[in-house]
Amino acid sequence: MTAFLVEPATGALHGRIVMPGDKSIGHRALLFSLLCDEPVIVVGLGNGADNGRSAKAITALGATVTREGSAIRIVGTGLDRMCAPTAPIDCGNSGTTIRLLTGLLAGQPFATTLFGDESLSKRPMKRVIAPLLQMGAHITGADEGRDGDIVPPLTVGPGPTRLSALAHQLPIASAQVKTALVLASLYTDGVASITEPGPSRDHSERMLRYFGVPLTTSVSAGARGPTTTLHTAGWSRRMHGGRIVVPGDPSSAAFLLVAALLRGTGTDEVRCSNVTVNATRIGFIDVLRAMGATIEIENLDDTGPEPIADLVVSGKAAQLHGVTIEGELVVRSIDEIPILAVAAALATGTTVIKDADELRVKESDRITATCNMLRAFGVACEETPDGFVVHGTGGRLPHGGQVDAVGDHRIAMAGTVAALCAPSASRINDADNVATSYPGFVAAMCTLGAQVAHG
Ligand code: S3P
Repeated sequence: MTAFLVEPATGALHGRIVMPGDKSIGHRALLFSLLCDEPVIVVGLGNGADNGRSAKAITALGATVTREGSAIRIVGTGLDRMCAPTAPIDCGNSGTTIRLLTGLLAGQPFATTLFGDESLSKRPMKRVIAPLLQMGAHITGADEGRDGDIVPPLTVGPGPTRLSALAHQLPIASAQVKTALVLASLYTDGVASITEPGPSRDHSERMLRYFGVPLTTSVSAGARGPTTTLHTAGWSRRMHGGRIVVPGDPSSAAFLLVAALLRGTGTDEVRCSNVTVNATRIGFIDVLRAMGATIEIENLDDTGPEPIADLVVSGKAAQLHGVTIEGELVVRSIDEIPILAVAAALATGTTVIKDADELRVKESDRITATCNMLRAFGVACEETPDGFVVHGTGGRLPHGGQVDAVGDHRIAMAGTVAALCAPSASRINDADNVATSYPGFVAAMCTLGAQVAHG
């Protein structure tokens, strides 16, 4: 089992990291390419294991994936010529792979079994399955989840000739569920609409439109939240291909930026280049700015469906102060809460995180795992049912930590950043799954001047 050994930072961090491809956008580039009628060239795909699961899945369903220099070329099957896989599909640790595939396979004329690792086998799937059943899909799973929820392995299909278009209101904002329903709706003859209570990431809407899918998004006054509408009636059912640039991952950049904010950058800077600055993903910048941080967005550009820019921290470390993180800000920074909690631990005053019950069903129970990670460094925090409270230390952490990352990549990376601010060396255990999203994390930290080694 991989551990990270982390020494306290002795000086400021500095350097430029070109961020690897965004995990969420990478999944979509791969899975949507399968549905295209023309080849797709994907530039900038990250090399995380989760994206690897989606790449293997589309191969099993009939796509050919080949390297072309630093890009990959995908020849898909189109919407209606997918092949039945010859074996169950292993989704590993990847919630996005299994949930998006469940939607994509609901309308296929064959059955597919989807399974994953120990963590994925505990994650709730009823939120995807229930609306798909209403659309006429056939899906079974194990009813062994929390509160009787359905968990993998799942068997999806065979579906009816056409699924029924649904007007569905998601009880919880979720890009994975929204995307699964949009993908299933491609196999209907009507108008599907999906409304969610908050602005979950909109990469699917942007990329599907880019590939020619007739999809609109609206936020009307008095509505419960953003509505994604898909008109399939009269659509030629063709998704054209093209070139997709996968911009860098802001969720990975968040670890490096918080490290820079906490340790300072001296006379130099820490620059994370080539990152998507899609507003649905960078709520963490709003939170950090509200805590007193200065983060600049520079060199803004467009690469097709997504805006990209450099995220820059420069100068002396500012003293951060506690804030309340709630409502839509939680939705827009859901994956960054563990690293925001590290910033809160070094801030003055108290930080309260609420409306974040979803964290309990991520790769780990991230409310418990984040609190335990902070406690390992002597930080006081309390769990609440839908979040937690962090009592900031106002400077250095009380002591070095022995962190159990519980196999969760984001807890391991957050713990590593916290360890830079401890007075003695720390050890982050069970960190293998950093490879699911950011295999280059330790190397990037070392490039910036931190002392992190594999143990
Ligand atoms: C993701 C959506 C988010 C996020 C996850 C990736 C995606 O989950 O937490 O890491 O790629 O669609 P939700 O579906 O709960 O929004």
